[in-house]
Amino acid sequence: QSNFNQKIDYVFKVVLIGDSAVGKSQLLARFSRNEFSIESKATIGVEFQTRTLEIDHKTIKAQIWDTAGQERYRAVTSAYYRGAVGAMLVYDITKRQSFDHVARWLEELKGHADKNIVIMLIGNKTDLGTLRAVPTEDAKEFAQRENLFFMETSALDSNNVEPSFLTVLTEIY
Ligand code: GTP
Ligand code: MG
Repeated sequence: QSNFNQKIDYVFKVVLIGDSAVGKSQLLARFSRNEFSIESKATIGVEFQTRTLEIDHKTIKAQIWDTAGQERYRAVTSAYYRGAVGAMLVYDITKRQSFDHVARWLEELKGHADKNIVIMLIGNKTDLGTLRAVPTEDAKEFAQRENLFFMETSALDSNNVEPSFLTVLTEIY
């Protein structure tokens, strides 16, 4: 995956945002290292992981930033968004409140990020379908209205994780 002396054509910064415990850090672990932990701890401050991949014969280094959903642990907002060309706005399909807060996250994003940023709304935890509290249609409608890409994922069973990140990276490129 990361060869020595690899020529990088583009570095794309993508930020993860959304309420605490929706699965941002585990989506990142799944995408960057193909790992998942049920005992994931709340993120404090900022972390990032990179993964280098080929899109259209170009070598793209995706630099994915992850911060805390909890206000008191969050990174300095403007610094977090600076230079970001993509954003994954994550909610938990089993937690209605995490979806109700999406509009607020979107507002913050629009206040701090570049106006051309590519935004993907992500409904995570599809493996918990029996506990679903947010109908797919509601999210799809919201995404359409706000001009966002939308996918449902599971960091636990990998459902749609790769396609969601790849869609954002491809749209940026
Ligand atoms: P903060 O860092 O506090 O903002 O939270 P976060 O959004 O990074 O959540 P995190 O990735 O730490 O996941 C929170 C909890 O949800 C952990 O127990 C994870 O194992 C679990 N989790 C994350 N993704 C999934 C998923 O797709 N399915 C299931 N069943 N659990 C998940
Ligand atoms: Mg986290």
